[in-house]
Amino acid sequence: MEYLHKVPRCAKENLIRILQNAYSGEVAAAYAYRGHWKSLRESPEKEKIKQIEAEEWDHRRRVGEWLEKLGAKPRPLREKVFWTIGRTVGLSCYVSGWFMPMYFAGRLESKNSVEYEDAAVFAKELEMHDCVDDLLEMARVELEHEIFFRETVAGHRLLPAMKRVFGWS
Ligand SMILES: [Fe+2]
Ligand SMILES: [Fe+2]
Repeated sequence: MEYLHKVPRCAKENLIRILQNAYSGEVAAAYAYRGHWKSLRESPEKEKIKQIEAEEWDHRRRVGEWLEKLGAKPRPLREKVFWTIGRTVGLSCYVSGWFMPMYFAGRLESKNSVEYEDAAVFAKELEMHDCVDDLLEMARVELEHEIFFRETVAGHRLLPAMKRVFGWS
């Protein structure tokens, strides 16, 4: 990509950094949603969450492709950490019910859409217009996820306690 040579290093580095974070964040979100839908009976809600999980894997694939185009790779340590978080949170539904996975998924979501919007600003600076469009589309989907999540956990009895402990509102 010849246009990448003309731009200051920092926009490219910033973009790579955000994409690396997002790439690993998606794996944690995907497993958290998986933990939730597995704990549900057959229902439209279960299908919706399965679909969200699929969308997270799709984001991860797309972010991975942009990293590759930028000549970068996911960060191995971050991958391990987020994979572990995802698996742990996903499994915690067997102990805690569906609330824990959904709570953490929601926390990740609220970061995700902002992350993709920030990334789009750097991509724009780099004149990577296809990347900008792709990132903004992902930001839009993340916002949908967050809205769905908020509707799902709203009013749950554990929510006030979790907000106090983990500081997410
Ligand atoms: Fe996502
Ligand atoms: Fe999401």
